[in-house]
Amino acid sequence: MATQVQYTRLGGPEVLEVVEVPDPQPPAGGVVVAVRAAGVNPIDGKLRSGVRPSPPITEPRVPGSDAAGVVVAVGEGVDDWREGDEVVVRNARGAYTTHLVAGASQLVRKPAGVTWEQAAAIGVPVGTAYQALISLGVVDGTTLLIHGGSGSVGRAAIQLARRLGATVVATASPANHERLRALGAHPVAYGPGLVDRLREAAPRGYDLILDAVGTDEALNASFELVDDRSRIGTIVAGPRAAELGIRAWGGGNPIPMTPTENALRDDAYAIALDLIAAGEFEVDIARTFPLREAAEAARLVESGHPGGKVLLLP
Ligand SMILES: NC(=O)c1ccc[n+]([C@@H]2O[C@H](COP(=O)([O-])OP(=O)(O)OC[C@H]3O[C@@H](n4cnc5c(N)ncnc54)[C@H](OP(=O)(O)O)[C@@H]3O)[C@@H](O)[C@H]2O)c1
Repeated sequence: MATQVQYTRLGGPEVLEVVEVPDPQPPAGGVVVAVRAAGVNPIDGKLRSGVRPSPPITEPRVPGSDAAGVVVAVGEGVDDWREGDEVVVRNARGAYTTHLVAGASQLVRKPAGVTWEQAAAIGVPVGTAYQALISLGVVDGTTLLIHGGSGSVGRAAIQLARRLGATVVATASPANHERLRALGAHPVAYGPGLVDRLREAAPRGYDLILDAVGTDEALNASFELVDDRSRIGTIVAGPRAAELGIRAWGGGNPIPMTPTENALRDDAYAIALDLIAAGEFEVDIARTFPLREAAEAARLVESGHPGGKVLLLP
């Protein structure tokens, strides 16, 4: 039997149930992956609570888009993957499980030098960070502001932007400042007086702003710091982006991402895995939980201050 975490009605973390289900069989063109680690992302809670609208629930929903594990069964027509292969699953559907069904085209090989936790931590956060930076146009010499620099997206964005040659100022709670400095950013506390502190941190101003928080404070500060709103991109305030005149990728934006933007997110897996294996990219793990404690893991992420990546280890 497989174990999975599911919900059948919208609500808080308490609607998550741990259930036993028959072992899934690999479909034609797909595989079954024994999950070693699954990433918990804020979107999982937004969908489960109904903050992010989704179609009516007609069957149990298993959360989770990020997983890494071992191929344990291979379906007909799959030539490139074998039992025992260590993989990351791109855009997983229902990663909070011991046994995940995935299409062969969703698999990316996990290098030996990357841990299961690291491998499961990169998908949504690093893909989003990489795509947003490239779409915004971050290049060598850019002065970039990141709202939410201490989140999993923010920590990835700081490192990737530094590699592109940008100067990075990033907002975070003071407890995270030392870490953000080590990752290469100039940290600034959010809260009253934010705009003054941000001006002081970059006296010559900002070229581009990535909003990974979506608060009025972050958006209003951005409007004071740059005149041309096309230089501001959000991954959270998607529903308001058109009205505000800023760019948005996902995050509730009614305009879907372009094929190019989706391709950038897919490209990020191999880029991040290679960098991690080479010791040139760091993933901060806040805490891991057994699968059966998924509700606790959700509570930590939904506190808004997990302090790094939260993972489930089936
Ligand atoms: N559009 C997309 O495709 C996409 C993809 C990934 C994520 N997202 C969204 O992006 C956001 C960040 O994701 P994540 O995975 O990085 O989250 P995370 O790891 O849970 O981090 C949350 C971040 O929010 C910061 N924060 C909390 N309250 C704040 C406030 N009042 N003002 C300023 N910052 C505050 C925290 O800073 P401190 O802990 O330092 O206080 C922390 O940096 C989430 O809303 C998520 O849903 C969107």
